[in-house]
Amino acid sequence: MADNQVIEAAKEKFGVVLQQQLERVERLKSELDWTDYSKVSPIIVGTIGGDGIGPYIAAEAQRVLEFLLRNEVASGKVVFKTIEGLTIENRAANLKSIPDDVLAEIKTCHVTLKGPTHTPERGDGWPNLESANVSMRKELDLFANVRPVRIPQQGIDWTFFRENTEDMYAVGSQGVNVTEDLGIDFRVITSQGSERIIEAAFAHAKRTGKDNVTVVTKANIVKTTDGKFLDIARMVSERYPGITWEGWYIDLMTAALINPARQKQFQVLVLPNLYGDILTDEAAQIQGGVGTAGSANMGKAYAMFEAIHGSAPRMVNEGRAQYADPSSMMRAGAMLLTHLGFEEMGDKLHKALDICGQYERSVVMTGRSNGATGEDFGNYLMSTIEDASLEERWEQYVREA
Ligand code: IPM
Ligand code: MG
Repeated sequence: MADNQVIEAAKEKFGVVLQQQLERVERLKSELDWTDYSKVSPIIVGTIGGDGIGPYIAAEAQRVLEFLLRNEVASGKVVFKTIEGLTIENRAANLKSIPDDVLAEIKTCHVTLKGPTHTPERGDGWPNLESANVSMRKELDLFANVRPVRIPQQGIDWTFFRENTEDMYAVGSQGVNVTEDLGIDFRVITSQGSERIIEAAFAHAKRTGKDNVTVVTKANIVKTTDGKFLDIARMVSERYPGITWEGWYIDLMTAALINPARQKQFQVLVLPNLYGDILTDEAAQIQGGVGTAGSANMGKAYAMFEAIHGSAPRMVNEGRAQYADPSSMMRAGAMLLTHLGFEEMGDKLHKALDICGQYERSVVMTGRSNGATGEDFGNYLMSTIEDASLEERWEQYVREA
């Protein structure tokens, strides 16, 4: 093909992407405000088991949430619902990353607690489906991926606000092979998409008494899109005179996160999708591994809370699913409570998880039959939550560590 034909063909594909994204910007402009859960009754909380160990750890997390919310369930303010069908078998049978009837069920819930779902990869025998996570983020417009990393004894208390719907992820499967040798992908950053995530980060800083926000980009090189993200950060920061902010480049940021002289200075960090994907794995590793971290995917209408690790099919095949550690799902559950406005309960659950999983560890899980089951751990956690001296115990452990 002659060059001009090749270029015309590529322009046509690019045109489709542009049209879709311009329409998306219009939708973003007319977006509703955040749901005020104090005015919603009943609040419907869905549990999605997912694959592998997912149903086991999700059930334990749900048991703890039902225990904490027992008064709200009794009064009818909160209703729990189990959502079936987001399994790899059912997704493969329907050839859909989220089958329509499952999506409809998910949309009847305000918030969901989701176990890990298997993402097919080449050669694993499953059809090549889009990740259920990425689909859910798009379908429910869950634009804020909030990932806390805390190591109290080292003074580390970070909250990452990763943008969840734009950047390389927005049209990741719509790139163009212009010729056999030239591949082009598209990176999407919008003013509206940047503003809502940066605003969420500053609002969180203000609400939680933090005084600094770090904005991470590579705006010296990726000038148009990261440049826009940074411009919007400057604009949003003017609404928050009590909060200082700094721009950092992603490369130096990956170094600063493991620099003990720097670690304590970061509080709330906000960043585009792909940088956020990478940096939050590094941060989780500093805390003890991706298995220890919970994650919130929040939009103005819906929110989904999940563990950030995989479904561990091997544990199921070897008959040890009941020994899987439900802590990450319970962390996600604590974030769910806070999101719904049950802040005290969320705080209690976080502290009980610190005590049971990091400090006291009277019930130890090994992932095998020589350790405790998820249910034993759930019981230990609930008795810790019940303890009237939970707060003092937690403070003592943090001091001693
Ligand atoms: C994450 C994961 C996902 C992502 C995968 C599973 C699609 O790495 O939640 O960070 O890339 O966002
Ligand atoms: Mg990731």
